[in-house]
Amino acid sequence: MCGIVGYIGGQQATPIILEGLKKLEYRGYDSAGIATLGDGESSIRRSQGKLINLENMLKDQPLAGTVGIGHTRWATHGRPSEINAHPHKAGPVILVHNGIIENYLQLKEQLKQAGHTFKSETDTEVIAHLIEETLRTEADFEKAVRQTLARLRGAYAVCILNENDPGSLIAAKLGSPMVVGLGEKEFFVASDIPAILAYTREMVFMEDGELVIFRDGTAQFSTIAGAPLDKKARHIDWSPMMAEKGGYRHFMLKEIHEQPRAVRDTIAGRLLEDEGDVYLEDLQFSDDQLAAVKRIVIIACGTSWHAALVGKFYIEGLCRIPVEVDIASEFRYRNPVVDEGTLAIVISQSGETADTLAALREAKSRGAMNMAICNVVDSSIARESTGVIYTHAGPEIGVASTKAFVTQLTALYLFTIRLGRACGKIDADHGQRMISALKKVPGLLEETLKLNEYTEKVAKKYMNARDFLYLGRGKNFPIALEGALKLKEISYIHAEGYPAGEMKHGPIALIDEDVPVVVLVPKGSSYEKTLSNMEEVITRSGRVIAVCSAGDEEVRDRAETTIEIPSFDEDLDPLLLSVPLQLLSYHIAVLKGTDVDQPRNLAKSVTVE
Ligand code: AGP
Repeated sequence: MCGIVGYIGGQQATPIILEGLKKLEYRGYDSAGIATLGDGESSIRRSQGKLINLENMLKDQPLAGTVGIGHTRWATHGRPSEINAHPHKAGPVILVHNGIIENYLQLKEQLKQAGHTFKSETDTEVIAHLIEETLRTEADFEKAVRQTLARLRGAYAVCILNENDPGSLIAAKLGSPMVVGLGEKEFFVASDIPAILAYTREMVFMEDGELVIFRDGTAQFSTIAGAPLDKKARHIDWSPMMAEKGGYRHFMLKEIHEQPRAVRDTIAGRLLEDEGDVYLEDLQFSDDQLAAVKRIVIIACGTSWHAALVGKFYIEGLCRIPVEVDIASEFRYRNPVVDEGTLAIVISQSGETADTLAALREAKSRGAMNMAICNVVDSSIARESTGVIYTHAGPEIGVASTKAFVTQLTALYLFTIRLGRACGKIDADHGQRMISALKKVPGLLEETLKLNEYTEKVAKKYMNARDFLYLGRGKNFPIALEGALKLKEISYIHAEGYPAGEMKHGPIALIDEDVPVVVLVPKGSSYEKTLSNMEEVITRSGRVIAVCSAGDEEVRDRAETTIEIPSFDEDLDPLLLSVPLQLLSYHIAVLKGTDVDQPRNLAKSVTVE
């Protein structure tokens, strides 16, 4: 799980690569490095820690050259250190790699016996040595790379330079993301679109098992085995500004504030108001196909899994089709019951999460109908699914997922309407009512965002607690889980989410005057019950922060603190409830001085197991 960037053309490579790496730092920030080629000689700069260290190093020791590769690392094999930082070099070969080479120990042993000495603990260095070794018998750079890649097991996206072939840059992909940007006689390679968006909008998405060689102002695509490919470019209309902080202190805060826009974009063009139905352009299942679905399994990780849990309530409640929700890393290894009557839905912001991708493949191999809810166009999961509902959240850079989550809920709600209409469980009237409720969400999110300053005050009051509990019932239980995850991952405070009615079966023993308990208690069918659970906490001296409907006097009278939201619809309140929980975590993290956008030990896309 790393970010890679490559450049070949008429400009100086280093500034382009450095800017690209800045956009990819969310993929890992254990170390960074850049290599360039000029006059048959390479120069490499590498530095442990964040990119800023490399940037400072480059001020003292600049790198010239119009061909180059760069890397920002999330350590898997070999601890975070300068010696393990990419690029790695063996003889004339220099490369950067994202992924894991599973047979590297075996290959390393063979290479050592052939006289190679290794400087790092990484699996990546093995690839460089293997190419160097192959070049001894196969002088053609491209052929040597192909032969080497054929010997690797595992996942990779690689960019490779050769000092003896300074006019060429080779990139290849198997299991890790890679996009190629086409310029005027210049080419860009990156792990993700924002890295090269400032330079070109014309992008080619590499598929697994493909290779590209840039040479003499051309890009030649082929399979790794050598069969030529005619790849088509796609025009990407994300603006570079969309990937910038837009004046906010952190990407996370910007992304929280983008949620009204993100939901608007996710529903735009999809509502068939007169018919009480929706049109999902990349999901072309017929009504008959949808009506034949016997059961649904929704598979995801982390925040996306929390969205899946809400989706179960939507689909079961409104379409009366049984839904099972699974964590992708569990699903793929537990011999799941999946057959032709099963619809597998995978949810992933990045579309590159390794466990979710593997779970999708597992479900497909068992004959399931399948689809994805995904934010990144043409990501691996989006490409491999039969159908996709894209969440139009735009690039999410903050490691803590916010706008992607709320748009995932939106997409699940849209899908529920479509499914319900297809299987006859939602009639046109009902569909129209659902659509008109959904249309109110962006405006109400804007309203909810006005809580930002107030939530900061609440954060100040509770920031020193060591543990938090989050409670909710029904659809709000997954929101409690999500609130707890947000707090854990960016403020490093221990937090747990529980179904409010489950407290009395154990967790209530944790309650004392030091544990803030966030209770999600908007008006709705479980309001009274949740109120009783809240009371149980208060009786045991718990400090309740109630997230409730605006103007709820009863809750105001009982809770130590209230955060009041414009709740309006039981199915859609989870979207509004998410906002103050995101803001609370954000402000606590800022007050504690943690690295909000790049919290410790985490990376944005988990593209390894
Ligand atoms: C959430 O804040 C986390 N960053 C994480 O749980 C994330 O949702 C998970 O890794 C799944 O990612 P995906 O949606 O890109 O598949």
